[in-house]
Amino acid sequence: MFQKIRYRLLLSYLLVFASLLGIFALAVRVAFTRSLTQQITDKLIAIGQSAAANVEYEAGHLKIENEVYLQEQIARHQALQWFDAQGMLLAQQGKQVLTLPLSPDQTVQFQNNKIRIQAVTLPIIDSYNHRLVGYVRVSQSLKDFDETLEKLDWELGGGIIVTLVLSGMGGILLTRQAMQPIEESFQRLKQFTADASHELRSPLMAIKINAELPLEYPEEIGPKDAEKFSAIANATHQMIRLTEDLLLLARTDQLTNQNFHTLNLSLILEDLIQFYKLQAEGKKINLQSQLMENLYIKGDSIQLRRLFSNLIENAIYYTPSKGTVEVKTSRVGSQIYVNVQDTGVGIAPEHLDKVFERFWRADRSRSYWEGGSGLGLAIAQAIAKNHGGLITVTSQLGSGSSFIVRLPT
Ligand SMILES: Nc1ncnc2c1ncn2[C@@H]1O[C@H](COP(=O)(O)OP(=O)(O)OP(=O)(O)O)[C@@H](O)[C@H]1O
Ligand SMILES: [Mg+2]
Repeated sequence: MFQKIRYRLLLSYLLVFASLLGIFALAVRVAFTRSLTQQITDKLIAIGQSAAANVEYEAGHLKIENEVYLQEQIARHQALQWFDAQGMLLAQQGKQVLTLPLSPDQTVQFQNNKIRIQAVTLPIIDSYNHRLVGYVRVSQSLKDFDETLEKLDWELGGGIIVTLVLSGMGGILLTRQAMQPIEESFQRLKQFTADASHELRSPLMAIKINAELPLEYPEEIGPKDAEKFSAIANATHQMIRLTEDLLLLARTDQLTNQNFHTLNLSLILEDLIQFYKLQAEGKKINLQSQLMENLYIKGDSIQLRRLFSNLIENAIYYTPSKGTVEVKTSRVGSQIYVNVQDTGVGIAPEHLDKVFERFWRADRSRSYWEGGSGLGLAIAQAIAKNHGGLITVTSQLGSGSSFIVRLPT
């Protein structure tokens, strides 16, 4: 149980941490991309401005003198293009030039071919008459830029993974530390319940024996006293059962696998049916069974008997006379299903998930000792889980209930 809580805690912690890291990495990437793009744009504008300033024109027409800007710009994957005022390409330098048509209102352009290119377009203004004579477009391949980004991605991803692994290891330690006191106090509480029920058993036994003793000599005590003594003996018997139930519940986790043997569940069920036949007949209830033969499972026969007797007892107890109680088995894959079905009073839908709780009883108005303590199904469920199985219930108020026990073979 605590293992599960611990895993859940760790998982949610890692999930929160991973999403925080993810958001952080995304923010870093966006900021980095933006500032790098801005940097390139600034650089291209500077080149464009110097190119525009150095251009010659004659009668309003550009005159390009080649080989001016070439050399180093090409080395940096840059290129230059000149256009006249109508947008016609006049000349270009550089290897990787933009093939897109000129668009004067867009200062920054991107071209996404095999090689991504970023370009900046600047107007060339005649400094004498302030007329537009053409455009210069400076571009740069984004190969280096993309490589830098890719490197950043790998580094961020690697960083996140390393951080997650480290914080996962830290988280295991932390959750273990956080759960330890809770686990300890839970264990202490269980130990206390077990000790208290154990300690209560001997004095209760003594009371029971002493109350039953005078009943063996009825002539010495009057019938009135005999009634009182027998009431005491009965109540004490119930209390002994209760302490035993509590002890069993407190110990269910420790009772694991040690006493598990391969058993024939069919025989156990047959035996129980035989045993409860009389009780059922006394209440005019038809106790039927449809059992498959040789259903072998690994388990503890005392616990399993307890599980099914609790269910059968309930079925008989909560079914009015002339009703039917049926025990059926089936097998699906490696799972065995035992269905204890009755035509009794049923359980209200809002109570269905409560029936397995300790001390829960639908009819609290009934006297406490009549029927039982409300531990029966809690014990049955604990035993089923102890065997790697589960009990589920379906019921309809007034027409009956069906408890299905699933057990692995
Ligand atoms: N077959 C059933 N039909 C209708 N109600 C049921 C059935 N089985 C259990 N219940 C309801 O669930 C409650 C809890 O059952 P559980 O067996 O745990 O306790 P109990 O039978 O009251 O007492 P105990 O079994 O400890 O003697 C019962 O009080 C009853 O209200
Ligand atoms: Mg019961």
